[in-house]
Amino acid sequence: MKALVLGGGGREHALAWKLLTSPHIEEVMCVPGNGGTATLPGCRNLGLALDDFEGIARVALVNNLSLVVVGPEQPLADGITDYLQQQGLTVFGPSKAGAQIEASKAWAKALMVEAGIPTAASDVFTDASSAIAYLQQQSLPIVIKADGLAAGKGVTVAPTLETAIAAVQDAFQGKFGAAGNQVVIEAFLTGQEASVLAITDGETIIPLMPAQDHKQIGEGDTGPNTGGMGAYAPTPIVTPEILDQVQEQILEPAIATLRQRGIDYRGILYAGLMISPTGEPSVIEFNCRFGDPETQVVLPLLETPLDEVLLACAESRLADLPPLQWKPASAACVVAAAGGYPEQYAKGMTISGLAAAAEQGAVVFHAGTQLSQGQVQANGGRVLSVTALGETFEQALEQAYAAIAEIQFDSMYYRRDIGFRVR
Ligand code: AMP
Ligand code: GLY
Repeated sequence: MKALVLGGGGREHALAWKLLTSPHIEEVMCVPGNGGTATLPGCRNLGLALDDFEGIARVALVNNLSLVVVGPEQPLADGITDYLQQQGLTVFGPSKAGAQIEASKAWAKALMVEAGIPTAASDVFTDASSAIAYLQQQSLPIVIKADGLAAGKGVTVAPTLETAIAAVQDAFQGKFGAAGNQVVIEAFLTGQEASVLAITDGETIIPLMPAQDHKQIGEGDTGPNTGGMGAYAPTPIVTPEILDQVQEQILEPAIATLRQRGIDYRGILYAGLMISPTGEPSVIEFNCRFGDPETQVVLPLLETPLDEVLLACAESRLADLPPLQWKPASAACVVAAAGGYPEQYAKGMTISGLAAAAEQGAVVFHAGTQLSQGQVQANGGRVLSVTALGETFEQALEQAYAAIAEIQFDSMYYRRDIGFRVR
């Protein structure tokens, strides 16, 4: 079988890598891929853009590809699944209608309220003056969210009324483009964040290993939010009891309500959770795709061939899939970023030490890299995600850190405290 992976981050390298460990997969193609997928045996990058749905469909049909796996949210929100399915292709990832659960926070909030899913109280605004009037009645801190997709930058946790008002004004003045035409203002939740990614065909819902990531750039979880600076799985924060609660109070009602709306949701439903100090989970956001870097720690733990799982989902056969098999291990991932990220950063730096890192027993998933004249160069904010497994969480972390210490590029930055919340 041959498969196509859409996207070019660490998540997509991990998807391609995992698919290629399956006995059924002979080749994986990536659009656009990165330096890691370019050098992965059995994998090749295709020179197509992610928004070229027609070109992607053509290549998938000509090469007789059995499965298309969509990594990022943008093409899902733009309806790539619907388009490719109309061409007769088998696609992993929800339809455009289903992807609204990530693409519109107001839509997702309304769904949560309808489904009775625990989440922060919120209101939706379409103009600055009514949003500001509302803010003046609320307690602090308070959270301001641009409604649409904003590459993880649309959320402000405001400690003061001034920052809250500035966030509202920024959104309505077009800082996030059309994504900020509506703003959700919601109450601040306390506790620990965790990510439960579930695979669902709209009937059966199978949660994957619960993970945690570190969103902020600075050690101690300080500074601006990023796409994620490190992750680990399974996280002890999500106990089996909490996972049951997530299934019953969050995932099942979400899928049931999607179904009532006529949406046949097939793909990943990613619940970004806040676990309260007393162990009650509530939803911060839903995503319609695999997490990055959560995927880089969840997939290496999976024993079941990934193509079997993704195909069963895409073909609505998850009820017949035997229970997922997991390695009895822990996984940790440390992200190496270009200095300056998530603000301005340089590109084009040559990366060395990748082979030495692999010799340490780690898997180096490339995120923002490209292959240029045989050399791997940095080509994005998050450059690499170095993942290691261990019998214990401590061992996994130690191995990941031993491996990343072998890698060098100009301005390389990584957090030294990944996992500090559970150490
Ligand atoms: P989101 O894009 O909705 O996941 O928000 C990005 C980050 O903002 C989350 O990972 C949290 O760290 C923080 N955040 C969002 N909503 C809330 C909330 N209601 N309470 C506390 N923190 C939040
Ligand atoms: N790691 C957070 C996300 O994928 O949205």
